[in-house]
Amino acid sequence: MNGNYTFTMIKPCAVKAGFTGRILADILEGGFDIVAMKFTRMTREQAETFYSVHQGKPFFESLVDFMSSGPIVAAIVSKENAVADFRTLIGATNPENAAEGTIRRKYAESLQRNAVHGSDSDENATLEASHFFSGFERFQGYR
Ligand code: CMP
Repeated sequence: MNGNYTFTMIKPCAVKAGFTGRILADILEGGFDIVAMKFTRMTREQAETFYSVHQGKPFFESLVDFMSSGPIVAAIVSKENAVADFRTLIGATNPENAAEGTIRRKYAESLQRNAVHGSDSDENATLEASHFFSGFERFQGYR
């Protein structure tokens, strides 16, 4: 993936609250195309692997519990400058600091239950997407 892709998850809190459709609409209206998408649930072990960079931090255990607590929507989305533009679309990690109109401002419950994940670098987008999607599950250039 080369700068035009990022990885996202709609987190268990937002799925449970019924925000999946609205969040996907915001992503599409934000100019992103969906390359891959699945409705799935992480095991505790998978959530530990996904968030291994945060291992040892005080919020790690509860983050892993939360992220494996229910279904999520995982997706690869594309757009020029995808990683940075997606982070602008979703807003700051802490929804209290997220700009008006951003996905987290609209749908997040708290710092941990912040509605969506967005990769923080091209390298992490590639790594995170590889946890969820094979090459055969990715579709590009269909629009
Ligand atoms: P995300 O973008 O998925 O990346 C790591 C996640 O850890 C973050 O969103 C939050 O859900 C969570 N997180 C980050 N910092 C904290 C914190 N200080 N306390 C609780 N959860 C946090």
